[in-house]
Amino acid sequence: MLNESLTLPSGLVLSNRIAKAAMTENLADADNQPTGRHERLYRRWAEGGSALLVTGNLMVERRYLERSRNIVADRHLDVVRLGRMRQSAGQVPMIAQLNHPGRQTNRFIARTPVAPSASGAVPMMGLFGKPRALAPDEIEAVVAAFGTASALCERAGLDGVQLHAAHGYLLAQFLSPHVNRRRDEWGGDVAGRAHALLAAVRAARAATGDGFTVSVKLNSSDFRHGGFTEDDAEEVVRLLVQEGVDLIEVSGGTYESPALFGIGVEGSAWTGDGGTNSVKEAYFAAFARRARRAAPGVPIMLTGGIRTRAAMEALLAGGAVDLIGLARPLAIDPELPRALLAGADGVELPSYTLPTVAGMAGESEWYETQIRRLGAGQDVDPSLRAIRAASGFVTGEMVRGLREQGARRRLADRP
Ligand SMILES: Cc1cc2nc3c(=O)[nH]c(=O)nc-3n(C[C@H](O)[C@H](O)[C@H](O)COP(=O)(O)O)c2cc1C
Repeated sequence: MLNESLTLPSGLVLSNRIAKAAMTENLADADNQPTGRHERLYRRWAEGGSALLVTGNLMVERRYLERSRNIVADRHLDVVRLGRMRQSAGQVPMIAQLNHPGRQTNRFIARTPVAPSASGAVPMMGLFGKPRALAPDEIEAVVAAFGTASALCERAGLDGVQLHAAHGYLLAQFLSPHVNRRRDEWGGDVAGRAHALLAAVRAARAATGDGFTVSVKLNSSDFRHGGFTEDDAEEVVRLLVQEGVDLIEVSGGTYESPALFGIGVEGSAWTGDGGTNSVKEAYFAAFARRARRAAPGVPIMLTGGIRTRAAMEALLAGGAVDLIGLARPLAIDPELPRALLAGADGVELPSYTLPTVAGMAGESEWYETQIRRLGAGQDVDPSLRAIRAASGFVTGEMVRGLREQGARRRLADRP
């Protein structure tokens, strides 16, 4: 099964069923342009055997970054350099994840982030400011920016885009009744809250040609009281099918409820072979089955916690999942897909003992540090201490975020 090819509705052919899920690289230069480090990294991942490479998130708006050194896909993007990054993956299809972080923009990047509605700051070690509500014309501009970014990715030779509507970023904030309290056309019932996402999908389609893949990463749920639920998610899947998306990736959680890393999702975990396998795998497998029923013709990619070949084969054989997404395993073992395809069993990951929120920053930075090493042409360093990685995250983002804030603003204002 893992070795079988898959053709997306766009016509994009994937040679097997393993995809590298998005991982922020934080490797752009001070103008947020792609670099040789991206090229080295994606060459390594392409050689590792994945059938599809989803890039780390590219920002659609220069003022609001998820990390200080994200690539920004606005009119200042160096398309030739992005093209080189694409070419470094050779024949392996690459799609760019596009994102706007909204209220999850840290305070070193923007003191006042934007969100569907004004609300409290994301409570995470004081890293985030209180967001203000976007005006309707600003929402239109964000939607248009997803279209512009898609067109630029197509010009650079990428095979498609993935709109990031998961993990509590702006498009997911619109979906969440907890964060989106708007009473205009961008809020209200599920269809109203999905308006921004659907408009962004339409903008991506309108800006690109036939055969260009348009996909969406969606939360199964926010894992918080009063937030986006699995029932909401199922309805959004139906709406995305009507828009003709080519692939839906299922994930879950936000910065406040980091289910994406398996924290707090024990209840929905899938446990290998009928419960005898104690390894917790595939955090969102239960929702993938619902998504499959709601989207009969659209391939479903499932990401989060999947580690063993047995689990991968079982998920594919069960029919709910068409593509296995792997993130952290490929940051520490870029050649893993090739090994799995040749019959290897899978990997075990180090476990972390930091408190939840610091643990998420630390865990994420631990993997990001490994990605940085791969981009520099080095090997991974499994002995790196998690607490050092967590403090590196805060100080690194603070120094670069603040130092380059003025330059980012000036460039954003320049025609
Ligand atoms: C260092 C790092 C960076 C990440 N960056 C992104 C990102 O840019 N976009 C995204 O959708 N998910 C991102 N994720 C989440 C992964 O795509 C994935 O959903 C999550 O790690 C669970 O999958 P896994 O258990 O295979 O790691 C990131 C994860 C890590 C570890």
